[in-house]
Amino acid sequence: MNLVEMTDSEFVKFRDLIYRVSGIRIAENKRVLVSNRVRRRLKATGIAGYSEYFDFLRSPAGAAEMQPFLDVVTTNETYFYRDAAHYEWLGGDFLDGRMADAAARRRPRALRFWSAACSTGEEPYSIALKVAARRRELAGWRIEIVGTDLSSAVLTAARAAAYDERSLHRVGPEERRTCFDEAPPGRWTLKPEIRSMVTLRPHNLLKPMGGEPFDCIFLKNVLIYFDALSKKKVVDVVLAALAPGGSLVVGPTEGIHGMLGSLDKVKPWLYRKGG
Ligand SMILES: C[S@@+](CC[C@H](N)C(=O)[O-])C[C@H]1O[C@@H](n2cnc3c(N)ncnc32)[C@H](O)[C@@H]1O
Repeated sequence: MNLVEMTDSEFVKFRDLIYRVSGIRIAENKRVLVSNRVRRRLKATGIAGYSEYFDFLRSPAGAAEMQPFLDVVTTNETYFYRDAAHYEWLGGDFLDGRMADAAARRRPRALRFWSAACSTGEEPYSIALKVAARRRELAGWRIEIVGTDLSSAVLTAARAAAYDERSLHRVGPEERRTCFDEAPPGRWTLKPEIRSMVTLRPHNLLKPMGGEPFDCIFLKNVLIYFDALSKKKVVDVVLAALAPGGSLVVGPTEGIHGMLGSLDKVKPWLYRKGG
């Protein structure tokens, strides 16, 4: 199959569809990028052209194709301990504060974390490693770490929890030795006791999260391509999911600082809900 790039009018249709389903606003100059990514699905499905593929995607028969389509159009770059300061705070001040509150009976011995666009799992597993590092002091606590993403392909990779050097460059030798198994050389799989601390499930950030509120939410490196309307929708979802007194960790590119006025700003990337 020798496929050309999508036409401008096909690009507009795909851009609108991606925006409606995910909130991601693809820039007008990204036609070649979108062509290349969607071409992978044309090859996989054997559909001859972009317009036919678009029609298939929107038809009842193509409902199951939406997920692999979203898998190719999302950007999933991530690694362990991205933004080191966030994890130093989590493993230090945040856990210290919560343990002090529990000791003074101001709060239960329970913590819920949400990694709200977790990609291939490095973010929720970095949270798990920081919690595990203090496991003796946290003995008897109920701790839940939930990782969610729109793309099912990244969640499958997250469940396998096997990483290469690119993902692990911030993980030191001691932590690699105690928390990962290396086999074959250069491929590191998280030990089951760390993996089992994290629950992974699909979730679209434009939809309510439901369930019990979270004490700490990581919302990082996902909203860069969202427009103001979609950012606002996500912010409403995240604020509704944040427990009173809970902390929100925001990535450097989210562009939502002006929408977080109801929270207390603790650091440029850290917000706290009153209560
Ligand atoms: C660049 S990764 C960020 C991963 C991690 N949070 C980090 O900072 O390293 C962005 C992730 O957001 C996900 N994503 C994009 N739109 C989403 C949506 N509407 N709901 C949930 N996840 C979404 C993508 O599938 C991708 O895995």
